[in-house]
Amino acid sequence: MYIPGRQTLSPAFFLKKRTRDWEEFFPFNAESKTFFSNARSAIFFLLKNLNFSASQVALLPSYLCTSVALPFQKAGVRIKFYRVNNLLEIDLDDFLTKINEQARLALIIHYFGFPQPIEEIRKICQTKGVFLLEDCAQALFSRNGDEPLGSFGDAGVFSLRKTLPLPDGGLLIWRGNAFKEVLLAKASKFSSFLGFLKEMTNFIEIKLGFSLRPLLLRSDKIRLFYQEAEDKKWRDNLQAISRISQILISRFDFSEIIERRIANFQFYLSEIGRVRNAQPIFWELPRGVCPFGFPILVKNRDKVRIEMLRRGINLRTFWDVLPGIIPRDEFLNSYYLSRYILVLPTHQDIMEKQREKILAELESLSRKGLF
Ligand SMILES: Cc1ncc(COP(=O)(O)O)c(C=O)c1O
Repeated sequence: MYIPGRQTLSPAFFLKKRTRDWEEFFPFNAESKTFFSNARSAIFFLLKNLNFSASQVALLPSYLCTSVALPFQKAGVRIKFYRVNNLLEIDLDDFLTKINEQARLALIIHYFGFPQPIEEIRKICQTKGVFLLEDCAQALFSRNGDEPLGSFGDAGVFSLRKTLPLPDGGLLIWRGNAFKEVLLAKASKFSSFLGFLKEMTNFIEIKLGFSLRPLLLRSDKIRLFYQEAEDKKWRDNLQAISRISQILISRFDFSEIIERRIANFQFYLSEIGRVRNAQPIFWELPRGVCPFGFPILVKNRDKVRIEMLRRGINLRTFWDVLPGIIPRDEFLNSYYLSRYILVLPTHQDIMEKQREKILAELESLSRKGLF
């Protein structure tokens, strides 16, 4: 059995009818929005429109991946980090000390779809006159109680392809009509085609129950090369979402996707006790959360990941490589998380059989004393 780390695009989606109400779903129903090929382009577009002065800074959490830092660096915006604890919660005391008159924007990540104390953060930002950007790359369809994440800030950014089986897709929504319209570069036909090809290869691999991917990903060199290539490939040319993703986006059943993700998370939550020494980051699933994954902390994480790949299971890390600009001495715990985190997939293609296999294999590795 091969279990991929993300949902797969089936050609059957092309034959499905468009659901007419997809545009009534948040965030697709936002009045002010622009689709991009990815979230980093959406962030870059926003930064360009906010006209930072040389003395102004953006506040970013100390736990993030290079693709979040990249648009800030490309836009020449100075970054200041604030602390995030080992439960992936913002350290509000640290946030308050960092949010001074130099701060122009604060970016908040709702990790794995779990809301940060966003009402409180919104109040702080409003009082200080700081632009609040909610990073919902991992939080599509997630809510804080009844209110969708992405609707609290001055703007929200989404990476659609992370939750939906799309070759590409990012979305920026914002309040009011503050931003100038810019002409987006058309999606490159070549990279759209490559994206589509990649999705179809994934599909064929699933059907065959065999993939070379677990073999290739066992090599750190290949895995990191692949990750870095995606960051290097990105240029600040603000590419629009591809035609293929535009066609597909209306053909998914969003409610079903949310339900599946919740059911998978609940399963891991109730069964994780079988896996000795695996420490979940989230111990409950609050109402409204659409979980992006089930993160655990384990010793010997890299060995565990490789052993799972040997068994055909691709567990992702989010993120084993942090941008070098995060000061290690000041944010030791971010590096701790990055070293021990392993994410069990909750995506919509994971069914009872797959999630049981994932837990059984982890259980057996822990019994053998690997972690
Ligand atoms: C929290 C977060 N924000 C933003 C991004 C960037 O998204 P994209 O890959 O669509 O540019 C990522 C990507 O991993 C992410 O995890």
